Amino acid sequence: MTVGYELISKDGAARRGRLTTAHGTIETPAFMPVGTAATVKCMLPDSVKATGAEILLGNTYHLMLRPGAERVEKLGGLHRFMNWSGPILTDSGGFQVMSLSKLRKISEQGVTFQSHVDGKSHELTPESSMKIQHQLDSNITMCFDECTPFPVEKKDAAESMRLSMRWAQRSRDAFVDRDGYGLFGIVQGSVFEDLRHESIEALTKIGFDGYAVGGLAVGEGQEAMFSTLDFTTPSMPEDKPRYLMGVGKPDDLVGAVERGIDMFDCVLPTRCGRTGQAFTRRGTVNIRNARHAEDPRPLDPGCACPCCRDYSRAYLHHLFKTGEVLGLMLLTWHNLAYFQEVMAGLRSAIEGGRLKEHAAAFRTEQALGDI
Ligand code: GUN
Ligand code: ZN
Repeated sequence: MTVGYELISKDGAARRGRLTTAHGTIETPAFMPVGTAATVKCMLPDSVKATGAEILLGNTYHLMLRPGAERVEKLGGLHRFMNWSGPILTDSGGFQVMSLSKLRKISEQGVTFQSHVDGKSHELTPESSMKIQHQLDSNITMCFDECTPFPVEKKDAAESMRLSMRWAQRSRDAFVDRDGYGLFGIVQGSVFEDLRHESIEALTKIGFDGYAVGGLAVGEGQEAMFSTLDFTTPSMPEDKPRYLMGVGKPDDLVGAVERGIDMFDCVLPTRCGRTGQAFTRRGTVNIRNARHAEDPRPLDPGCACPCCRDYSRAYLHHLFKTGEVLGLMLLTWHNLAYFQEVMAGLRSAIEGGRLKEHAAAFRTEQALGDI
């Protein structure tokens, strides 16, 4: 396992770092756009790159079902298949199985389930998940785990976390070491401090290239997520990257970076973009709202993306009202560009030792509401 991590500077608990993989480097804190089915929906890979993204997330679960990991491997791996030459991180499938598939059965061995596509039976285990992520040629492989649901009784959270820790050991044993490719462990334990600490201890004993915080953003709310991070990140290894899975809204990213998180992924910028919801410096905007119908101003006057540079709110509103595909493309582009701007702002604020002021100014502007 040799994904490199260099800690460049710190500001409070926040960290400015750099990840090195076989397919390139990633400046952290970083946001990873989601490319579930070997595409970031509505975007060409060059466009995704133009938003500032340096790494994408792919999904074991979706790709094993369609087109199949063996086919991707035969066609030269996921980078070549989807024409993205930069780093790729893949999630291990456990989380997606539980949220998408039918007739799931979880055992010590792994998870058996029926595909949400055609109902066919499949099995995912730590060993098969490692093999699939290897076939995809993923730069950062995630351990096979169970995302503990919320709310949960403490004894059930403990049992679920301990199963994930046994699966983490099996994931490590099955992972094939290669230069520029790494394996991340996933901390579980829900909102319970002693369980999170037990999970970190189990994972660090095995030893990984990075450590993710899983089992958050599952309905516990921002306050509980932040307080969980408050007692979790201080116990995580300082010399390895920390990845908060499935998070989040812009204010979640800022708060989590302040609490020592280095990496994020979330469907919000792409999924919301396709429903007409934009994230801006002044909070969220629904472009379908009638108040935009004759507005000649850009979506976000502070944004330099093609959507904001070249098009009016009135035009974007028209595209969404008429169901034109360009509307989906432009709002997706803007949202991804804005998320990358948020991350770039955090990185330079950490470097300059002014994160506290930067975060306060971010929150003040968000609270003003739309222009
Ligand atoms: N995505 C969001 N949360 C999780 C988690 O807990 N585990 C995995 N594997 N993926 C996630
Ligand atoms: Zn924009």
